[in-house]
Amino acid sequence: MRMIVAGAAVALMNAMPNAAIARDEAATAITIEAGKPGAKIDRHIFGQFAEHLGTGIYGGVWVGPDSTIPNVRGIRSDVVAALKAIKVPDVRWPGGCFADEYHWRDGVGPKRRSTVNANWGGAIEPDTFGTDEFMDFIHQIGSDAYVSVNVGSGTLEEASDWMGYMTADQRSSAGADRAANGHAEPYTVKYVGLGNESWGCGGNMRPQYYTDLLKRYARFTRNYNPAQQGDTNPNAMQRIAVGPTDDDASYTEGVMEAWSKRDWSWSIEGLSLHSYTVPHWPPSLPSVGFGEDDYASILQATLTMEQKIAKHSAIMDKYDPDKKVALVVDEWGVWLAENPGSPKGFLQQQNSMRDAIVAALNFNIFARHADRVRMANIAQMVNVLQSLILTDGPKMLLTPTYYIHQMYLPFQDATFMPVKFDAGEYRHGAVTLPRIDAVAVKATDGKLYVALVNLDPARPAAVRVALPEGGLRKAAGQVLTAPNVNSVNTFDAPRTVVPAPITGKVAGGVVTVDLPARSVAMIALER
Ligand code: AHR
Repeated sequence: MRMIVAGAAVALMNAMPNAAIARDEAATAITIEAGKPGAKIDRHIFGQFAEHLGTGIYGGVWVGPDSTIPNVRGIRSDVVAALKAIKVPDVRWPGGCFADEYHWRDGVGPKRRSTVNANWGGAIEPDTFGTDEFMDFIHQIGSDAYVSVNVGSGTLEEASDWMGYMTADQRSSAGADRAANGHAEPYTVKYVGLGNESWGCGGNMRPQYYTDLLKRYARFTRNYNPAQQGDTNPNAMQRIAVGPTDDDASYTEGVMEAWSKRDWSWSIEGLSLHSYTVPHWPPSLPSVGFGEDDYASILQATLTMEQKIAKHSAIMDKYDPDKKVALVVDEWGVWLAENPGSPKGFLQQQNSMRDAIVAALNFNIFARHADRVRMANIAQMVNVLQSLILTDGPKMLLTPTYYIHQMYLPFQDATFMPVKFDAGEYRHGAVTLPRIDAVAVKATDGKLYVALVNLDPARPAAVRVALPEGGLRKAAGQVLTAPNVNSVNTFDAPRTVVPAPITGKVAGGVVTVDLPARSVAMIALER
């Protein structure tokens, strides 16, 4: 049995009401320390990633203004409506590896220049979805722009010119070009990524080499938008440096050490971490029809996110004890074998109840590290890897991972509340995992919410939730479960895995919730 204490150290037992400490071997007791609030959970941990990869953009977001698929200026309306509903805080674009081969001038103005997408299946990149289309999309879904500039194969002049195109006024040539393309006002660029995986597909650079480049990009990739000026401006652009992959800390050390010695001329506000759930490389586990071996190994792999974040956070603490630089997990998610018969390099995979559990466990980990992890972007939003949305021509479906984003809406900008509970064990073969996971928050609506995950694929779990002082009066929310951990939504059966209402029984100020096997629940608690 593993006792989990999440958040600040707590001395619970003396303070707990009798009802809360009554021994009930069958139930997991969860105590929420609502009087000891932790960090704010930045809504940007629910960010998205949309790369020019497979049908992530073309088909998934962009269908063109002449399509019979309902669209607004070429952007499909069903996808926009689904993304608006989950209040997507930001979208990272145009990559990924693609970003380091993207030349933004190919994708603006009346004449587009097509290129070969060498990273992703050698597909022809028509460049019909470029900067102005991306900004239109962001505007339609009500989200912030996170633009990654090309450090790998581009020039600093090109990156700087792109910033001018996006953010300068019309007195400059770049701003005038934008205005001539129909957009008189500067765009807001809230986040800029200074390269992508510069240790790998972005140029295979030593940390020292990247750090030298970073200083120049951080200085000269300027934002000219008058509404984003000033260090204390809440809208000021945040610069995100390439950081570590998985638990390799060489970039964490290199970039953070350089940052700690910075002068007035440059800085960064974020350090990127890329960490996929992929027990074997190359990715070979199927996304459908898998059994419990795969289920357990994927959950085991995804839970290592906790140690990776702890490791990089500790290094960042050494150089940045005030936690000025955010750890930005801007690529995460399950990476599985491509769907049989799908175009090679398009990274198309189905999305199951298991993947929903993966998403919930990662959100819980990010919430526990909310003081340092202030942004994260699942890979990827539509039709690529652990997608929220799948499309096929005019058809669209919402995946189990989408529904986790919907259920976790109360976590956006909520305050973390420490919880204490006995996680129990789920065992399969040589794999031993916690059986229950729980995170509590106080949401911006003033209510307490608890997110509960039952990792056990076969056994339901009773959970008793209490405050140290008792006094809970009502508990109701939503639960996501499915006939099997490998259950998926298909275009023929799109509602196999959808959330259902769940209520807790209240007695003596304590709430009891019956969690189905393989489930995620989000429950509002009223005092
Ligand atoms: O998300 C797919 C790819 O994974 C991205 O392009 C790259 O940054 C990462 O290796």
